[in-house]
Amino acid sequence: MVLQICKYGEKVLREKSVPVASVTEELRILASDMLETMRKARGVGLAAQQIGRTERMCVIEIPEGCEDDEDELFNAPVAMPLKLFNPVIIAKEGSQRDKEGCLSFPGVGGSVTRAEQVTCQYLDENNRPQIISARGFLARALQHEIDHLDGILYVDHLSAVERLTFASKLKKLAKANGGVR
Ligand code: CO
Repeated sequence: MVLQICKYGEKVLREKSVPVASVTEELRILASDMLETMRKARGVGLAAQQIGRTERMCVIEIPEGCEDDEDELFNAPVAMPLKLFNPVIIAKEGSQRDKEGCLSFPGVGGSVTRAEQVTCQYLDENNRPQIISARGFLARALQHEIDHLDGILYVDHLSAVERLTFASKLKKLAKANGGVR
């Protein structure tokens, strides 16, 4: 089922997620619905807050060919799509700066500095604890989605100059969706 995506301005995007006690059938269905919603919107990640929920869960799917060769090789052991429950980043290394966008911010995209490599611990949909390491674009997606779960939005990371550039767009978007910045 395709769900409605919450836009910047909606209060839920600033709420902190609550860890799930266990991955239930209901949450497995929700994760599938989130994937369907994300694919339809042509995104590469979606967090619970973006569909109005506060369970600590998100989905990620990086299409093939999005990564440079070296990162693709490094990330190869990570099978797509990812359905992550209670994800936490337990290690970060290096830094990368690149363009980023978000399905909750239609028409806004800016450059964000992120760690180049991360290690993430989570529960899979069968309640098994997993640890993955990722680089490049996948590492960026993990940091972006896990930020969402902590109520942090990618515009919070924009430089002062870019924030100024997007100020009126962001103000308008927030105003149209409930006004919470
Ligand atoms: Co986002």
